[in-house]
Amino acid sequence: MAFVAVEGIDGSGKSTVIGLLAEMLPRVYVTREPSGGPIGRLIREWALRGGSVDPHVDALLFAADRIEHYRREIEPKLRENFLVITERYIESSIAYQGAAGVPIDFILYINSLVPKPDLTVILDVDPQIAVERIARRGGVEKFEHATFLRRVREIYLRRAEEEGYPVVDASRPPDVVARDVIDIIRTRLGYGKSKR
Ligand code: TYD
Repeated sequence: MAFVAVEGIDGSGKSTVIGLLAEMLPRVYVTREPSGGPIGRLIREWALRGGSVDPHVDALLFAADRIEHYRREIEPKLRENFLVITERYIESSIAYQGAAGVPIDFILYINSLVPKPDLTVILDVDPQIAVERIARRGGVEKFEHATFLRRVREIYLRRAEEEGYPVVDASRPPDVVARDVIDIIRTRLGYGKSKR
């Protein structure tokens, strides 16, 4: 079955939109990175709380988590014929660790042990709107500052152009964004009918 990654800066509405996709499409399995596995937990509890000071360490941890996540969770669900939608995947490492100074070739190399998704969709929003959304839900994490997110967004958009990823305007209400993403999934992957 198909494997879709939803990407975008913090505050672009990925979780909300993915939640809507899961309601609107049949046989969807939703997952996210950092994963719920041991390396994902190490990332959340240590690296994202200011523990790691070298962005290469972050890149390596995210890549290790991804390999584990793919083998343990994504691949089995694909075999069970689910449409697997992950919130964040390889492009998150390229955009965030790339923005933090890690060479993209290095990030691509350490991520070459997992398959690319069938489709990567970028939810695009102005970092100013994103930080306002983040502030409203409370608590600002390591990567959630406007100046940094501007660099992250630039890399996402550059990659989208180079790799042909669809970019969706995520400044609009989540249901409108979700509908656009579903249209993209249908046209690009020829996937399933809506439940509505
Ligand atoms: P996030 O989606 O914000 O998770 P949560 O909502 O549970 O906090 O992800 C946490 C942060 O990790 C986010 O700021 C982006 C960052 N990140 C990377 O820097 N590289 C990666 O490869 C991934 C997957 C996430």
